[in-house]
Amino acid sequence: MNFDINKIRADFPILSRKVNGKPLIYLDNGATTQKPKVVIDAIEDYYTNQNANIHRGVHTLSQEITVAYENARATVQKHLNAEHPHEIIFTKGTSDSINLVASSFGKKYISEGDEIIISAMEHHSNILPWQQVCEEKGAILKVIPINEQGELILSEYKRLLTVKTKIVAITHISNTLGTINPIEEIIALAHVKNIPVLIDGAQAVPHTSVDVQLLSADFYVFSGHKLFGPTGVGILYGKEKWLNELPPYQVGGGVIKTVTFEKTEYADLPLKFEAGTPNIEGAIGLAVAIDYINKIELNKIATYEHNLLVYATEALQKIEGVKIIGTAKNKASVISFVIEGLHPFDIGTILDQLGIAVRTGHHCTQPLMQFYGLQGTVRASFAFYNTQVEIDVFINGIERAIKMLR
Ligand code: ALA
Repeated sequence: MNFDINKIRADFPILSRKVNGKPLIYLDNGATTQKPKVVIDAIEDYYTNQNANIHRGVHTLSQEITVAYENARATVQKHLNAEHPHEIIFTKGTSDSINLVASSFGKKYISEGDEIIISAMEHHSNILPWQQVCEEKGAILKVIPINEQGELILSEYKRLLTVKTKIVAITHISNTLGTINPIEEIIALAHVKNIPVLIDGAQAVPHTSVDVQLLSADFYVFSGHKLFGPTGVGILYGKEKWLNELPPYQVGGGVIKTVTFEKTEYADLPLKFEAGTPNIEGAIGLAVAIDYINKIELNKIATYEHNLLVYATEALQKIEGVKIIGTAKNKASVISFVIEGLHPFDIGTILDQLGIAVRTGHHCTQPLMQFYGLQGTVRASFAFYNTQVEIDVFINGIERAIKMLR
């Protein structure tokens, strides 16, 4: 398909609304992305025509929706090039997926004195679950440092990988800095020592294609809502051998083969990890979103967004007092910045008056803010439906904010 920006924008109903009397300019895609009409329609159709529970009924509706739910799993499998559909677990989102792995992996494999490696640029979602495991088991959290540009210092990573390391958990793309981490190398280095690696792909999947077999990732996690799909649904990809070995995270309906009061035999993958009635419409909506972006093609999306990033970076750098936080060589379309003497919250508030949505604050990365000695930043994060004209309005908005606040 050709990359026709007008046609693409028309697919997203919300982009034609006004905010504070101005056309919405949505530059908060790192927080959540907007939904194309096909996804909205799929959710409406689910409740209008298809609603039933899955894996539990002999009746037609239940059978139909079970097929649709499993087809959604197959769509995700294909999208990530996973070897098996049962390596795809539907969760509530990235945080839920990481909590699942940290809890189950921690229970089985982490003991006192063991080490878990994360990095200095992790989102709280990829810090807290590991911190909890460390507290429970007496294990130690090791942190790969970054340089001033916001890139991982790989020589330090190599030094941290020891016989004590039990797992490495790293973000693919930083939500705050936009840094694209060299996860191929990170995984390969860990695998030399037989250490499994979890990749937090929440900020990566909207911008780049992922092949979990090529990467040889042990776990790869992301959220539906950052991939133009619904909220409340996420993915845990895990290699079959790991998912088979890990104990269930939550237990309840749907996760069993047999139950007696004396003993429970758990279901095979993937149901072992999907306790309770799942977010059925979420899974179906996510699969529709994946089909949608694959029609546009992720390589075209990446090129278009890179041009937006370069354009916005050059324009921002021309404004006196602006400092961009995160200047890695390899960056996704995320720009964090501060303006000398001004509070990010005040800038965000003025931009909002102009209909421009950005995120301000610590972006759930407080340790990263501490590294830069900041309370917070303003963050503009672009998606493939944003335009250079919108960036011009955003830049004018920043200039106006500076005039008003100085
Ligand atoms: N993790 C999301 C963000 O970066 C919410 O904004």
